[in-house]
Amino acid sequence: MKNVTARQKYINPFRPHFERSSAIAWMVVACLMVLEMLLPNAPTLILAGLALICMGAAVPWVRAWLSLLHMRDRMNHREVSILPFSEARKHFDPNHSRTWLGWGFNWNLDESQLAREVVLADPTKITQAEALDSPGQSWLHGVGADEQPIYLPVVDEHTLIIAMTRWGKTVLYRLLIAQAANRGEAVFVFDPKGDSGLREACEQACRDAGKKLLVFHPGFPATSVRLDPLKNFDDSSEVASRVSALLGRGSRDATFTAFAFMQMVNVVNGMLLAGKRPTLVAIKRYLDGGLEILLVEAITAYCKRVFQDGWEQGLETYRRRVIGRRKKRPDESDGPMLLSAEEEAQALMAFYRENIASNQSSPEIDGLIATVEHPAEHRSKMLTSLMPVLTKLTSGALARLLSTDLTDPGDTRVVTDAARIIEQQQVIYIGLNALGNEDVANAIGEILLADLAAVCGSRYNYAKDRKIVSIFVDEAPEILNSELIKLLNKGGGAGFRLTLATQTVSDIVARLGDSAMAEKVMGNIANFIFGRVTATESQEYFCERLPRVPIKTLVHSRSVTSPTLDPLSYSTSQGETLQTTLEAPIEPPMLGCLPKLHFFALIGSRFVKGRIPVVVPDAS
Ligand SMILES: Nc1ncnc2c1ncn2[C@@H]1O[C@H](COP(=O)(O)OP(=O)(O)O)[C@@H](O)[C@H]1O
Ligand SMILES: [Mg+2]
Repeated sequence: MKNVTARQKYINPFRPHFERSSAIAWMVVACLMVLEMLLPNAPTLILAGLALICMGAAVPWVRAWLSLLHMRDRMNHREVSILPFSEARKHFDPNHSRTWLGWGFNWNLDESQLAREVVLADPTKITQAEALDSPGQSWLHGVGADEQPIYLPVVDEHTLIIAMTRWGKTVLYRLLIAQAANRGEAVFVFDPKGDSGLREACEQACRDAGKKLLVFHPGFPATSVRLDPLKNFDDSSEVASRVSALLGRGSRDATFTAFAFMQMVNVVNGMLLAGKRPTLVAIKRYLDGGLEILLVEAITAYCKRVFQDGWEQGLETYRRRVIGRRKKRPDESDGPMLLSAEEEAQALMAFYRENIASNQSSPEIDGLIATVEHPAEHRSKMLTSLMPVLTKLTSGALARLLSTDLTDPGDTRVVTDAARIIEQQQVIYIGLNALGNEDVANAIGEILLADLAAVCGSRYNYAKDRKIVSIFVDEAPEILNSELIKLLNKGGGAGFRLTLATQTVSDIVARLGDSAMAEKVMGNIANFIFGRVTATESQEYFCERLPRVPIKTLVHSRSVTSPTLDPLSYSTSQGETLQTTLEAPIEPPMLGCLPKLHFFALIGSRFVKGRIPVVVPDAS
């Protein structure tokens, strides 16, 4: 019975306005009655009664006519709703349990059926021609009878937004960021392409929430906060994988990555042993010919721990042995013999091997020795694509922005890190453009995201109060890496909610290298918001996820058979079959027809069609 209703609903928009004639006829007659009342000696009472009856008779016709007009009007509605911030704010959920996305309706069976039949009957018959400046078929939104506010639940779930450029991703982010800040969450906004709209959105959100916006922007170092991406870690391998991941932009050869990772693990372990905090600048300094110094510091620190005071005296023999191996004998009269860093390292290595390694060996020092003894030429060849990025991140203005242990009393910029931002529930905008080097910009994004993943990991393991953290990543594939997968996997449990936006699904697959990895990323996403997208893989990706609905199709058949032997005894048949098949509620190409700011969304298992308003600053 319901399907029949759906079909009738569909037929409505296309049929002629046949109610219009009846409605007008009844109303004209009613008016004539009223005019006749003005004539002398007219039977006023009778005429008034008749006029009323005619008006009453006109009512159902007028109503049916208006309803048809209303439906056609809805299907032609393409204006964008522009809301001043103060107006938009009224739609925010006061209980902070859901995020307002705009208006729309649930797209169920009726809507699916109606949309298909509109397509079959040619939507251009009832809608205006597509405007050149705002393409898209607005009838898709007119399919729903009533618009309601559409909300996204505020739970530990991730959201993916896919839409082509200029569809309105930044406009949607404006709405989402404003609400996240309004709820008092810590908010991280990653902007790899430097969209002024996104920064303004953060400023507006902070003004409303009464917070100060933190801006990290290597393009404007003077006004940027300083953010150390290596501040938070549970063990050395985390730091190592964060730094070695910088290698990934050029070659993703596993051998190079594994080698870089091992080198980093050894260096970071050495630094931790020597009581030094790993920062990018320090790691770079040690890698650039300072490995022996690090080894000396690490073994010295270790010996202080395992031996009692006075252990250094035992070292003298080893020092002399090293000096003895010099080609040119030192001048004995020069007083105490000075050893170069390499010689000191040689002496300490021999001391370690002969006095400690057998019973109190340290895997960290063993690793560092392996790194120091590794042929330097081979090492630099293997790290050849890592070092340029690392050099850029540790020179010029970036050195102080990313390595916050470089102290300078004249530097009054805010020093912070991911854990602190979360603790203080601040809002930070991380702009990465304007560096002139996309690889470096994206590397910064990746390493900061990795830092967040580490904070997330430790909060997942230890934190008692799980403050919600909202992370918005625009142009997500630019800074996607395996660290982000950790964030997506564990993020939910730690109260981290990610929103990723990009143009197509295949961008994500291409960035992650293979579809299995991409599937891992996507497998953690609960909500999908798809705007206008013309790439067929993205359209199909979305439609495959939608719950199927039974679609009815009317099949007409007609046949004529005439036997060759007796042409006059022919037979004909005609039939009509109503077939039901389980199909996706929309056809994939419909996604390519969406107007700007219109979307289809799969929120949990609920499928909705919606449109988002453009929120603009208040006039004052
Ligand atoms: N104040 C406004 N009035 C009308 N339309 C707007 C306004 N602001 C933005 N838009 C529309 O929203 C779109 C901007 O989308 P944007 O969010 O920058 O796209 P994306 O981030 O997806 O590339 C523009 O195409 C524009 O038509
Ligand atoms: Mg944008």
